[in-house]
Amino acid sequence: MSDTSAGAPRAGRWAGDGLWVSFEGGDGVGKSTQVALLQQWLADRGRTVVRTREPGGTAVGERIREIVLHHRGHIAPRAEALLYAADRAHHVAEFVVPALERGEVVLQDRYLDSSVAYQGAGRVLDAEQVRGLSLWATGGILPNLTVLLDLDPAVARARMDGDDRPFDRLEAEREEFHVRVREAFLGLAAAEPERFLVVDASLPPEQLAERIRARVEAEIAARG
Ligand code: TYD
Repeated sequence: MSDTSAGAPRAGRWAGDGLWVSFEGGDGVGKSTQVALLQQWLADRGRTVVRTREPGGTAVGERIREIVLHHRGHIAPRAEALLYAADRAHHVAEFVVPALERGEVVLQDRYLDSSVAYQGAGRVLDAEQVRGLSLWATGGILPNLTVLLDLDPAVARARMDGDDRPFDRLEAEREEFHVRVREAFLGLAAAEPERFLVVDASLPPEQLAERIRARVEAEIAARG
């Protein structure tokens, strides 16, 4: 836990019922595959699992997603940061917290670490302010576990080139942007080792899944 800049609440991991796991990393690192594998594994063990994402996850969030990812033309960096934070505020209040309070496992594709990495390091806004904004938006709650899939952006880009779809606004940024994003994620993970699990996303998916399961199992055991 750490104090944040003026006005933002103190950050702390979720302490209530349920289990909240977020997945982070650059574009094209294979998050969706790992979220799906973990979802199946937990469901096989009788847990109720919900899968969600940012931006998106709610009807309002899907509209914000459309703007931040697909608007044609420039969006001012601070406006972009506010749009992600608005999506997050609504998502946490309307979807994530209610699911956790029902005792469910929430597997979430991206959370506030993405804003610190992409809008902070990528767009070069003040990282503490970007984090503070999201903490204000969410009341300061953090996931129980954040899985960071780490991969060289050049390797990730080569993987995405094989996909048959156009790049969105963020994916289309230059390589230097994605290198800064990767470094920011690694810095965040180093600063909060108790919350983060960093995995090498160049490993085969099944090996990655194995490591993630081991940590999730430990987290479940620790929380009783
Ligand atoms: P993602 O859903 O992972 O992309 P896709 O479904 O196309 O693989 O993330 C969408 C993009 O939004 C991604 O490039 C990262 C970016 N992003 C931010 O810049 N800030 C944020 O706070 C979040 C949540 C995502």
